Amino acid sequence: MKITVVGAGNVGATCANCIAQKELANEVVLLDIKEGVAEGKALDMWQTAPINYYNTKVSGVTNDYAATAGSEVVVITSGLPRKPGMSRDDLISINAGIVKSVTENVVKHSPDAIIIIVSNPLDVMCYAAYLAAKKPSTKVFGMAGVLDTARYRAFIANELHVSPKDIQALLMGGHGDTMVPLPRYTTVAGIPVTELIDADKLDAIIERTKKGGGELVNLMGTSAWYAPGAAAAQMVEAIVRDQKRIFPVCTLLNGEYGMEGIYLGVPVVLGKNGIEKVIEVKLNDAEMELLKGSATAVKSVMNVLDKMDII
Ligand code: NAI
Ligand code: 2OP
Repeated sequence: MKITVVGAGNVGATCANCIAQKELANEVVLLDIKEGVAEGKALDMWQTAPINYYNTKVSGVTNDYAATAGSEVVVITSGLPRKPGMSRDDLISINAGIVKSVTENVVKHSPDAIIIIVSNPLDVMCYAAYLAAKKPSTKVFGMAGVLDTARYRAFIANELHVSPKDIQALLMGGHGDTMVPLPRYTTVAGIPVTELIDADKLDAIIERTKKGGGELVNLMGTSAWYAPGAAAAQMVEAIVRDQKRIFPVCTLLNGEYGMEGIYLGVPVVLGKNGIEKVIEVKLNDAEMELLKGSATAVKSVMNVLDKMDII
């Protein structure tokens, strides 16, 4: 089993490190365009193997896709991260070009790979990768909901002073300020969260979750990497271990939720075949309105990409 992570920056390196520590593959290849960076980070990581006690061989290459050949899963994190004052959508033209060329190279050398996109603006980069990959959408999808839900769950755990392990939640929509956390589908060890947290406090948590990425950009001057890297690795784990985990994943909708031809975060079953099922939960009118609003925001950026004629 071979896994490639493209982009050896903050998120890519963290993701590769999580994959190695969990021994999800025999081999992890880290690839970056910057000379020596992937090699250096991979070497540094590999030198933790005797300490952290794992066998997964980690290697790094500069733009050498031949070294990634035969990968079963590829995580694409290459692209610019968001800087203060930048929206995710500002990144579109630069990152679409990067995601397109990376995806084409990946598919050339690993035609059967399942591709997980992380680069922003996430929903639209999934669409760009899908167009470039010319593969079924069940094999080309994006990481956002696992991260956004983790943030939501972490805030709830803080509020209640309980273990984050006991918070189960669902969050849908695009990876941006229009994302839709769903308190009706949020429980604390099976107890509806609405019975434990007052509506105004829950609203504040929801608002903080929606702006969770921006909060970290403002603190650090660049976007987050520990949780994003771990979230992408958790999706890799579900695939390579065929766990049939249910995660919110950015996937191409084909009529589900009454939407067609749009990449959007919805709950799916993730296993060895990639997206094995899209789960359609019942949404009330208010929730459906929020999801539609999020879809409209994503669609407008998809249209921007279409007009740019990059893909
Ligand atoms: P970073 O700047 O630390 O790393 C990006 C890496 O991509 C750099 O090392 C750069 O050299 C490399 N790169 C650029 N063009 C390349 C190419 N053509 N081929 C190979 N490598 C190339 O950025 P960071 O923090 O790792 O973020 C990566 C991306 O992930 C950004 O677009 C960011 O906005 C996004 N992101 C998405 C999240 C999500 O939830 N989906 C969460 C966090 C970040
Ligand atoms: C995040 O949510 C900016 O997408 C990045 O951390």
